[in-house]
Amino acid sequence: MDVYSHYPLKQCNTFGFDVHARLFAAVNTTDDLRVLLSDNRYRAMPLLVLGGGSNIVFCDDFEGLVIHPQMTGIEKQAEDAEFVYLRAGAGVVWDDFVACAVRHNWGGVENLSLIPGHAGASPVQNIGAYGVEAKDTIHQVECMMIDTGERRVFSNAECAFGYRDSIFKREWKNKTVVTHVVFRLWKKPVLQTRYGTIAGELKNYSERSIQTVRQAIIAIRRKKLPDPAETGNAGSFFKNPVVRRETAERIAATDPQLVVYPVDDTFVKLPAGRLIELAGWKGRRMGNVGVHAQQALVLVHYGGGTGNDIVALAAAIQQSVYDKFGVRLEREVNIIARKDDI
Ligand code: EPU
Repeated sequence: MDVYSHYPLKQCNTFGFDVHARLFAAVNTTDDLRVLLSDNRYRAMPLLVLGGGSNIVFCDDFEGLVIHPQMTGIEKQAEDAEFVYLRAGAGVVWDDFVACAVRHNWGGVENLSLIPGHAGASPVQNIGAYGVEAKDTIHQVECMMIDTGERRVFSNAECAFGYRDSIFKREWKNKTVVTHVVFRLWKKPVLQTRYGTIAGELKNYSERSIQTVRQAIIAIRRKKLPDPAETGNAGSFFKNPVVRRETAERIAATDPQLVVYPVDDTFVKLPAGRLIELAGWKGRRMGNVGVHAQQALVLVHYGGGTGNDIVALAAAIQQSVYDKFGVRLEREVNIIARKDDI
């Protein structure tokens, strides 16, 4: 296994920020990972596990070791009358996994088509789109403990999944590396088409199947979300905020278009994209960064900018949404701070 010095990360983060890692190691097997984690040269260094780099902002070079899991392969681990259990390596490109499932007519992840990133990150932030979350199909998450190199398997319940949240962002943050994920997919798929825009898009197709749902989702995403290969971005920059019903009613009174998603008797989720749009940010540019013109929840990097430009833009948006609506937006994307700020 090679460990590279002063490794360029520009191609390894979907914002396309031009930063370097002091050290960078791509690991292909769990044995390689164990060897790396037990090497005394690296034990005192900051570590960063970087999958597809689609949910991260680098404000500076990373002065530590970047571990890039590249365990590949999708294998059928088990099956019964209802389900098939597929084990994917952390380095499998997420959409290749979805395409594989859809090709075999195994249901559950088709609504998560075209999400950038790797399978290993899917449980960490419990990726979600169009009414479905990764947690709905994740059966087990296989990890390696950073301190001991020991293998540990987390059941779905142990992952403590929430909206864009899991135990890997909390108690186990910086303590484990996801090596494989086992998904439980339906042999007789049940289509999830309640989410407004899917039903509309599906009218363009003659049949309803997981194949056409995948095509419809790809079409919707291509219309609304910028392709990271063309314009740097990390998908939704903020989470949709959960607020008390009274707060939502107060805002809805001034905006008939506001869609509110019920959470429980007391709380509802508000679309952050709408709040950002109402605060006047949609399509606005600040130097080399800006707010996407088709989806205000997505911040974009036009080239030549830095992570600090994005952080400054995000802070300005948070402040103006707070001033206008009294609602605090929480970032969804991880920030690797400037060296001076650590
Ligand atoms: N909206 C606006 N203006 C905007 C953007 C959105 O008014 O500029 C309104 C829409 O009209 C709609 C509502 O906000 O009524 C929701 O918009 P959309 O369906 O585009 O979804 P979202 O809530 O903005 C979430 C996820 C996305 C996921 C979509 C589709 C989060 C933080 N984001 O966005 O996930 O693709 O739903 O399911 O939950 C990601 O996490 O990176 C991501 C892209």
